[in-house]
Amino acid sequence: MPNKFSWKKLEKPFVCLAPMAGYTDSAYRQIVKGIAPKTICYSELTSINALEHGSKKTEKMLEIQPVEHPIIMQLFGNDPDYFVQASKKLEKAGADGIDINMGCPAPKITKSCYGSAILKDPALAGRIVEALSKSTSLPISVKMRIGYSKYEEKHFVKIIETIQKAGASAITIHGRTTSQAYSGEADFEPIYLAKSILKIPVIGNGDIDSPEKAVQRLTSPDGKITLDGLMIGRASIGNPWLLQEIFSSKPQPEKTFKQKLPTIKRHLSLAIKLYGERGGLLEMRKHLAGYIHGIPNASKYRQKIMQSESQKDVLKTLSEIAKEIA
Ligand SMILES: Cc1cc2nc3c(=O)[nH]c(=O)nc-3n(C[C@H](O)[C@H](O)[C@H](O)COP(=O)(O)O)c2cc1C
Repeated sequence: MPNKFSWKKLEKPFVCLAPMAGYTDSAYRQIVKGIAPKTICYSELTSINALEHGSKKTEKMLEIQPVEHPIIMQLFGNDPDYFVQASKKLEKAGADGIDINMGCPAPKITKSCYGSAILKDPALAGRIVEALSKSTSLPISVKMRIGYSKYEEKHFVKIIETIQKAGASAITIHGRTTSQAYSGEADFEPIYLAKSILKIPVIGNGDIDSPEKAVQRLTSPDGKITLDGLMIGRASIGNPWLLQEIFSSKPQPEKTFKQKLPTIKRHLSLAIKLYGERGGLLEMRKHLAGYIHGIPNASKYRQKIMQSESQKDVLKTLSEIAKEIA
């Protein structure tokens, strides 16, 4: 029996792959773990309502491969009983931890009072964390934003303290409010404040796109507060090698497309294994666009990839690129 996952026992600073709907599926997580094995991967957000109603598509999202451990599976919704029921399914699926989404700003999520809308109601946040903490032995974590319509220190402190008191084992904070969505720059000051108040590990998230920025964000500007971990999202798309660079705290020589090719091909084949050829090609479009971003004639190749009907066609285009820009 492998050791039970514990946030507190992780070697610090740790690095997490952010949950990203439509991106961080099992195929991508396997790719990231192959490159940076110490990464803590999060699943895409998973609906407790869909799990409660036995959605086959959602249950498929719970399938994981041994290499993905430790894997944190993220749930969204707002009914504490449904969270508890969903946690049983995550236990069965082999999750090492359960994360509660209190950060999603998408109107289709917040209008039902899920995701970041929970931040408006600290008591509800506490009830969800408490119900889960009492019903499962898996560590419960929360991923949140610094506020809903705006950042208010008093409200923010109330939320994070409620979450800790209710039994959370870790907290990730994206340094933006819901109203900001992805605009402006992530503000890490509230995240350092959380670290100075809480006993549980605090993970900082937002706009980290280089090893230099990771080092800079890990510690507060006055040098007094160091976060326990960092979470990387968008910058890893098309560049999963970034996670390894961040672990080693220094930039590495830029890989040539030819050097990246075996990983890209493996990603494609894992996606096809997961979704079938047609589904895999569709899922891979955005990742492939990321992998070829910035190369000469990227838009020509992107179009070719978008129009590809088979794995063979995509592989042909990838080889063409490798030849042209070798
Ligand atoms: C396409 C996309 C999908 C996302 N899906 C989720 C999700 O399922 N759950 C979640 O908590 N956050 C989600 N996020 C937010 C990210 O986890 C992360 O907090 C955000 O992108 C900021 O980090 P970054 O600047 O490193 O990308 C998503 C972000 C993007 C861009």
